[in-house]
Amino acid sequence: MKETIILNKRFRESIPAEAILKRIDEMADQMNNDLSGRDVLFLGILNGAFMFASEIFKRLKIDARISFVKTASYTGTRSSGTLSRLIGLGEDIKGENVIILEDIVDSGHTLENIVHEIILRGAATIGIATLLFKPEAYVKNFTLDYTGFTIPNDFVVGFGLDYDGYGRNLTSVYTLVP
Ligand code: IMP
Ligand code: MG
Repeated sequence: MKETIILNKRFRESIPAEAILKRIDEMADQMNNDLSGRDVLFLGILNGAFMFASEIFKRLKIDARISFVKTASYTGTRSSGTLSRLIGLGEDIKGENVIILEDIVDSGHTLENIVHEIILRGAATIGIATLLFKPEAYVKNFTLDYTGFTIPNDFVVGFGLDYDGYGRNLTSVYTLVP
């Protein structure tokens, strides 16, 4: 069992690097089929999705562009928690076929905000690709077009995902040991 310590916490390898890359091969194949003949703008959500975005993007054979955006959280006036908006979206995305690249979809709140803003900015079509998905935590109903791995509702790090900023460089995904 491969384990690693990050800050004061112990994590155990749950998705080995080879399995992740094999799954990304399959996801990219699927995108190459689905999106063939279309001009697609991929939008990687920083920071977590940088590694997934890079691995997906280099496998694409379609006419594709990529850009990266970040969500900036701010406390909304509603009591229902944190809202976020997208920063760094320099391009005009009006009429674009956008595929969002996320590292993980947990409750889906972040994703909802992102999708909402991309709709407001006039994208023609929106697809969602995420490396990891926690269905037990998901409270939204957007269809995820491309999901790498469905995982239990436990905290994970690696392959771009962090614990307090650390662990993003791990090439496997690791799960917190309680
Ligand atoms: P959501 O809004 O609840 O779907 O959570 C989205 C964000 O929370 C993700 O984009 C991640 O940045 C972060 N997140 C959720 N679960 C994890 C995890 O297990 N490890 C690291 N970050 C996570
Ligand atoms: Mg994220």
